[in-house]
Amino acid sequence: MARKKRQRLEVMIDALGARGDGVAHAGGQTLFVAGALAGERCLVEPGQKRGDGREARLIERLEGSPQRREPPCPHASRCGGCVLQHAEPELYTAWKHSSLVDTLARRGFGANLVAPLESAPPASRRRLRFAVARRNQGYSPAFRAGHSHDLVAIDQCMIADSCLLEAATRLCTALGPAGIREIELTATTSGIDALVMASSDPDLALAERLPDLAREAGLARLAWKPSGGPVYVVAQQAEPAMRFGPVSLTLPPGAFVQPTEWGEKRIVSLIRPLLANCDNIADLYAGCGALGFALLPGPKLSMFESVDVMTVAARTAARLAGLDITATTRDLEIQPLIASDLERFDGVVLDPPRNGARSTCEALAMSGVKTIAYVSCHPGSFSRDARILADGGFALERVWPVDQFLWSHHLELVAHFVRR
Ligand SMILES: C[S@@+](CC[C@H](N)C(=O)[O-])C[C@H]1O[C@@H](n2cnc3c(N)ncnc32)[C@H](O)[C@@H]1O
Repeated sequence: MARKKRQRLEVMIDALGARGDGVAHAGGQTLFVAGALAGERCLVEPGQKRGDGREARLIERLEGSPQRREPPCPHASRCGGCVLQHAEPELYTAWKHSSLVDTLARRGFGANLVAPLESAPPASRRRLRFAVARRNQGYSPAFRAGHSHDLVAIDQCMIADSCLLEAATRLCTALGPAGIREIELTATTSGIDALVMASSDPDLALAERLPDLAREAGLARLAWKPSGGPVYVVAQQAEPAMRFGPVSLTLPPGAFVQPTEWGEKRIVSLIRPLLANCDNIADLYAGCGALGFALLPGPKLSMFESVDVMTVAARTAARLAGLDITATTRDLEIQPLIASDLERFDGVVLDPPRNGARSTCEALAMSGVKTIAYVSCHPGSFSRDARILADGGFALERVWPVDQFLWSHHLELVAHFVRR
C-alpha cells in the first residue's frame, strides 16, 4: 500500500520551548521543531501530538539564525541527551535562565530572585547510564534519540568524563552478546563503579570471566542487576569511595551521587553560608549524605533517606570518621514528616527527586524551621513547593541555577528560604 504523503509546511520559528525545541504556530496549532532556533524559517512535517501541540520534523532550514553554530558533538542532531548544542553559548545560557524565570513567574515569583546561570564544564559528568545498541557486528554504548525510544550508538560524548565512555565501550563490547540492556557508571575516587542491568543472571562461563573483564576495564567494582532481581557484586578490585566533607564513604551499588563533581561543589558552596548559623540541621532526601556531611563539623546533623543501603553507608562512614550523626531510613512520601517532627531543627537541606517534596513542604510550612536550603533538579515541582512554603510564611530570598545538565533541558537549582 502506498504510504500516505505527509503534509509539509513552511513556518517561522517564534521562540525556543522549554525542551529546547523551536516553537512555531501554523494553521491554529503549535508545532515543536527539534533542532530549530528562533528566527529561523523552516520546512517542517507535522507529526504526532505532544501536549497542547504537535511535534514537527525539520525537513529543511530555509533561513538560519545568526545564533546557530556547528554542534561540537557529531551525534548532537540525533542523540536526545543534548538538545541545544547547535546554539551559541550566549543563546543557550539566556534560554535556560529565562525558562527558570518563566517557571517561577507562573507561581508568582519575580525574575529579580534568580542569579545568573552557571554551567558545568564539558566532559564533567561523572555518573551516566548508557543503553546498549547493536553496531556493525558488535555492541556499543548508546543514548536514546530525542522524544523516542530509538537508540543512538555513540563513540563520542561531549558531556561525559572520558573515562566513562571508555569503560562503557569495553563493557558493551564484552557483555552486549550476554543480553545486557543498560550500564550505569560512576567515577569514584578509587575507580569506576559499574552497575549492569541485564535480562537475567550471567551464565556460569560469563560469571567466571567477569573479574578479569572488570580488571581489564579498570573498574573498581562491577555489580549485576537481573531484571526483577536484586543487585549483587560480581567483581571488586577496590571499594568505590567518595569524599563528602570530613568523611570517606563506600558507595553502595547504584547509589545516588550528584552527576558532576562541579555541581556538588557548587551546591555545597551555596548552601553552607545559608545554614552557617543553624545548630540543628535536617538533611531530607539525603542520599549518602553528600550535602549534609559537607556542613560538618559544627551543627548537629540528622539525615532522612528512603533507600536503606544509603543510610547504612552514611552511618558507617560517620562512625569511621568519629562523627555523631543520625541517618534514618524513611520514605517521606509514605511516612511524611509532620510539623512536630521538625520542631527541633532550625535549618533544613531539602534535595528531593524530580517530583519534589509537596508533603514535606506542607509540614515545613507548619513548623518552626527558620532556614531552608532547597536543592532541586526540577524547576516545575520546585516552583509548586516554593509556593507552599511562601504561603506558609517563608520568604524566597534567592534562586541560583546550577546547570549540571549541560546542553539538556534539565536544570538543577539551589534556593534559600527564610521564615518571615
Ligand atoms: C536528588 S537525590 C539527593 C541525594 C543527596 N542530597 C545528594 O546530594 O547526594 C534524592 C534522594 O531522595 C531519595 N528519595 C527518593 N524518594 C524518596 C522518598 N519518598 N523518601 C525519602 N527519600 C527519597 C533518593 O533515594 C535520593 O537519594
